[in-house]
Amino acid sequence: MTHEVRAVVALERGAPVSVETVLVPDPGPGEALVQVQACGVCHTDLHYREGGISDEFPFLLGHEAAGVVEAVGEGVTDVAPGDFVVLNWRAVCGTCRACRKGEPWYCFATHNATQPMTLVDGTPLSAALGIGAFAERTLVAAGQCTKVDPTAPATAAGLLGCGVMAGFGAAVNTGGVGRGDSIAVIGCGGVGMAAVAGAKVAGASRIIAVDVDERKLKWAEQFGATDTVDSSRTDAVEAIRSLTGGFGADIVVDAVGRPETFKQAFYARDLAGIAVLVGVPTPGLTLNLPLLDVFGRGGALKSSWYGDCLPSRDFPALIDLYLQGRFDLGGFVSEVIALDEVEEAFAKMHQGEVLRSVVAL
Ligand SMILES: NC(=O)c1ccc[n+]([C@@H]2O[C@H](COP(=O)([O-])OP(=O)(O)OC[C@H]3O[C@@H](n4cnc5c(N)ncnc54)[C@H](O)[C@@H]3O)[C@@H](O)[C@H]2O)c1
Ligand SMILES: [Zn+2]
Ligand SMILES: [Zn+2]
Repeated sequence: MTHEVRAVVALERGAPVSVETVLVPDPGPGEALVQVQACGVCHTDLHYREGGISDEFPFLLGHEAAGVVEAVGEGVTDVAPGDFVVLNWRAVCGTCRACRKGEPWYCFATHNATQPMTLVDGTPLSAALGIGAFAERTLVAAGQCTKVDPTAPATAAGLLGCGVMAGFGAAVNTGGVGRGDSIAVIGCGGVGMAAVAGAKVAGASRIIAVDVDERKLKWAEQFGATDTVDSSRTDAVEAIRSLTGGFGADIVVDAVGRPETFKQAFYARDLAGIAVLVGVPTPGLTLNLPLLDVFGRGGALKSSWYGDCLPSRDFPALIDLYLQGRFDLGGFVSEVIALDEVEEAFAKMHQGEVLRSVVAL
C-alpha cells in the first residue's frame, strides 16, 4: 500500500519550499514507516533548498524528528509498531572498516530506506539526510529509528535527531571536553548552543560563547556559558585568550563553518588544543593557514560528523538527562509551527530570531 501524505518539498534551487502531496510506500525489508510527530527546522534544510548540498532536486526536507513507528518491513527486529523513536541520519552498518575497528560513529556505509518516496506524478524525491520528515509519515531504514523514553515530548526529543546531538557531541564526543576544561564555541545557533549545554553537562569550568548576535549570547548564558564574546565588535581570538589566562581554550568549536571562524578556532586554542569543525562549509570555501602554525601550535583539528554520536548510546542517555532536569532540551524549542510555516521559519532562523522552530504534525 502507498500512503498519501502532506510534506514540505524544495522543488527547485533557491525557490520557496511548498507543501506537496507525497507518496510513501509501505516498508520493505529492513525499513520502517514512521508517523512523524515533530520535526525541527535545521540550517541544513536551508542549505538543501539553496542547492548547497547537492543538485538532486526535488528534496523532501526535514530531518530532526521524533515519532511513532507505524509498520516495519521483513527482518526488522530492533523496533516494532508503537515504539516512540527519534530518527537518526547515520544508521551504522556494523561491517565496514570503521565499524570493524570498533569506531561505528565513523561508519563509512550508513544506510537509508531503499524505496523512494515520490511526488504524485512519480518523480522520486531526495529525502534530506535520508529522512525527509517534514511529512505526516516517512520511510526510513529501521536502523534510523532509535527508541527513547516515550514520556519525552516529541517537539523536544526530535531535536536530538540532528542539530542538538551534533553540537552536544562536537563538544563532548569529538572535543572530549571534561571536568575543569575550558571551551569556546563560535556560533551559537541550535548547534553551537548545544555545544555550550554539552560542555556544562560535562563539567567544563569555563564556557565561552561567541556570536555576532547579542540575543544568542544572552541565551547562551542561560544554557551555561560562563562568558560571552560579541565577535562583531571584539576580536574573538584576543577575547578568548584573555579569558583563559592569555593561553587560549583547551577546545574551540566552530559551529559556523566558514574560513574566518575556523581560523578563529585554530588560533583561539591553547597550544596542543583541539579545534572542532561542526558547522558545514558551503562548496567552494578554502582555508589558508601557515603550515608552520599548524605544526607549531600542535594539538588536533577535527571534524565532527553528527557529533560523532552513536544514536543507540547517546539518544536515550540525553533524553534521560533531559527528563531528570539536567539538560535543557526543551529550551531549544523556540516555537512550534505548522507544516506550511517552514519557509517563514527559514527567515526567522536567518534573522537569528529562533534557536529552533519545530513543526508539530
Ligand atoms: N556537523 C554536523 O553533523 C551538523 C549537523 C547539523 C548542522 N550542522 C551545521 O551547523 C551549522 C550551524 O547550524 P545551526 O542550525 O546552529 O544554524 P543557525 O543559523 O541557527 O546558527 C548559526 C549561528 O552562527 C552565528 N554566526 C554567523 N556568522 C558568524 C560569525 N562570523 N561569527 C560568529 N557567529 C556567527 C549566527 O549569528 C547564528 O547564531 C550549519 O552550518 C549547519 O549546517 C552540522
Ligand atoms: Zn559501518
Ligand atoms: Zn540538521
